[in-house]
This record gives sequence, C-alpha cells and structure tokens, in this order.
Amino acid sequence: MKTETRKADHLNICLKNNVEIGSAGFSDVILLHNALSGVDLNKAETEVRFLNKKFSFPLMISSMTGGHNRSYKINTVLAEAAEKFNIPFALGSQRAMLENRKSVSTYRIRHLAPDVFLIGNLGVTNLSEYKKSDFEWLINETGIDALCIHLNPVQEACQLEGNTDFSDSMEMIENVCRDVGIPVIAKEVGNGISQFVAKKLEDAGIEAVDVAGFGGTSWPLVESYRKGLSSFSEWGIPTAVSVILCSHELDVSVVSSGGVRSGIDIAKSMALGADMTGMALPILKQAMKGRKSLFEFMEQKKKELKIAMFATGCKNMKELAKARVIITGRTREWIELYGISTESYAKR
Ligand SMILES: Cc1cc2nc3c(=O)[nH]c(=O)nc-3n(C[C@H](O)[C@H](O)[C@H](O)COP(=O)(O)O)c2cc1C
Repeated sequence: MKTETRKADHLNICLKNNVEIGSAGFSDVILLHNALSGVDLNKAETEVRFLNKKFSFPLMISSMTGGHNRSYKINTVLAEAAEKFNIPFALGSQRAMLENRKSVSTYRIRHLAPDVFLIGNLGVTNLSEYKKSDFEWLINETGIDALCIHLNPVQEACQLEGNTDFSDSMEMIENVCRDVGIPVIAKEVGNGISQFVAKKLEDAGIEAVDVAGFGGTSWPLVESYRKGLSSFSEWGIPTAVSVILCSHELDVSVVSSGGVRSGIDIAKSMALGADMTGMALPILKQAMKGRKSLFEFMEQKKKELKIAMFATGCKNMKELAKARVIITGRTREWIELYGISTESYAKR
C-alpha cells in the first residue's frame, strides 16, 4: 500500500474511532498548591526557549499530516494556529513526498507561516532509502527548521505492511545528524523513550528527544482498525515517567507528548523537566472544526497553563521548572526503581 493511502487511512481512523487508551501518568503528578501565590495572574509569562528559539507558549503541534489530498487544508489551519500562537509546528511524515514528488504541495505552508519554527518528519526505518540530496531537497522544498525522526517499532510490528528492520537504526540516525545541517529531534509515536535510549540518541547527535509516551493516541489501536494487531495497545512507558527518566540526567532537550490534554498537563510536564510539550489528536479534532475552534482551544490551553502557574506561585517558566511536585502511584514506583528520589521534586 502506498504511503499516501495509509496516511489517509490513519487520519480517517483517528477521527472516527476511539484510539486513545491508558494513563500518561499525569494523574500521579500533583503540583503543590500555593494559597498565597505571590503572582499576578495577568502577568504570568509563558515564554519558553527550545532549540535556541523563543516561543510564546510551550506547546508544539505534533507531527500528523501530509501527502494525501486532505492534508493541505488541515496543514494550513495548523500552520495558521502555529503562526498566531508562536509555537512550533511539526509536519506529518514526509515519506509520501519522497515517494511521489508531486505531493510536496500538501506540505508547503511556509507562505502562510513565515515565522513559524517548522519541523519535518521521517521514519527511522526509511532513512536508508534516502541520499543526502533527498534530505536537501526535502529541506529546501518545505523550508523546515528542524527534522524529526520517528522511532516506532511497535507501530511497525502491529501494522500489516510494517517495516520491522531496525538493525541499522543507530547508524542511520548518526548519518542524518551529521548530514542535514539542521537540528534533529528523535520522537516515538506513543510508546515512550527510556533514559537508556535517550542517552544513545544524545551521543548520536540528536538535539531533542520527544518522548511521545504511552497514555494518548495508541498506534496498535489505530492499526487494529486496519486489520493489524491490537494486543500491544497497552505497551509502553507512560509519558510522565518517560519525561522524568529522560530529563533527569541528560543534557538533551526533552519534549513531553503522548496524552498531553490540558494546560495543567503542560504545567506538570514543565515541572517534571520537559523543555517543550506536544499534542496531536486533540489539535487535529479542533482543526477539523475550523480555524476558530482551534484558536479557541489554544487560548484555553494557554489560560489553563497560566492558572496552573498562578496557583503554584510561578511567574515564569524558570520558576515552573522548579515548582514543588508530589509524584505518586505507578509513576513513583517506576522512577524510584531507577533511584530517582520523589522527595527531590516535593521539597525543592
Ligand atoms: C492522525 C495522526 C497522524 C500521525 N502521523 C504521524 C507521523 O506522520 N509521524 C509521526 O512521527 N507521528 C505521527 N503521529 C503521532 C503523533 O505525532 C503523536 O506522537 C501521537 O499521536 C501521540 O500524541 P497524542 O496523544 O497527543 O495524539 C500521528 C498522530 C495522529 C493522530
């Protein structure tokens, strides 16, 4: 099956069915309430730096569409929202445009979003098919500022036509980091990234790790609607756990995504050590309703984040990164197994 057709299938399935499962772990994480606050809510500053750029708000539009005939319209709405809110925007997999060069038009949104930090996307299993000149073409045609490589072993294995040869993935990632001349981000698609994998990616030259953890959109569930295997729908590292594990000892920037659903989840992610957060499915659903719905949705997430900052007594992102956090339940069990003290988050 052609990538374009598969991407169109994924979009339809995600819009028509319940494809979310489990808990990303944010319910285990409590931001310590501050009844005195000491902050003027209207002056809470949500600006953040990520990959040496300044953004108004730590929420990225995660990779979703491109390549098929519905994608351009969706990408234009997403690009306009990214431009208006000054947040990063990640395109869906660009494999389709490398397979069929005509489909590049569905990814071309630079004219609508001249200032947006635009992120490209390719799968790790396809990297060996491309030459340096293909990457140059892809970067020039779409004007991307960074490239995201998705690591999706469980999705590929549950997909009928999946590519399951990951044997040279580290070597491929090292080559891309050396060749492309723009920052490279590694992301999962809903199963999370451990600190061990993040360390290898950091050594390979990756500048950011987007954990895309368990607890949001589940690709085994999506693939089960295409006659794939659903048995692995509860597999993976919950997002909150993955963010703590990856940010605890490593220097690489960390994106919290996978089941991020509110401004409170964004605040919790930042307090756990994330440098940015990302959201896919809820943004897609709003974009399908139109520009106005998506803009209102974004305003609401920003407002929720600001109230969470206000109620924890944090004026800005630097203070939020040090907010007191109580980590309970399964998230606590996971991180304590790796010797990370929950007291260090609660009593700082
Ligand atoms: C319709 C749809 C298409 C997606 N396509 C891609 C893709 O092309 N490349 C990729 O890396 N991730 C893709 N994803 C995964 C998301 O970027 C994200 O990692 C995942 O959905 C978890 O975030 P969520 O729980 O907020 O949806 C897609 C997600 C959705 C909903």
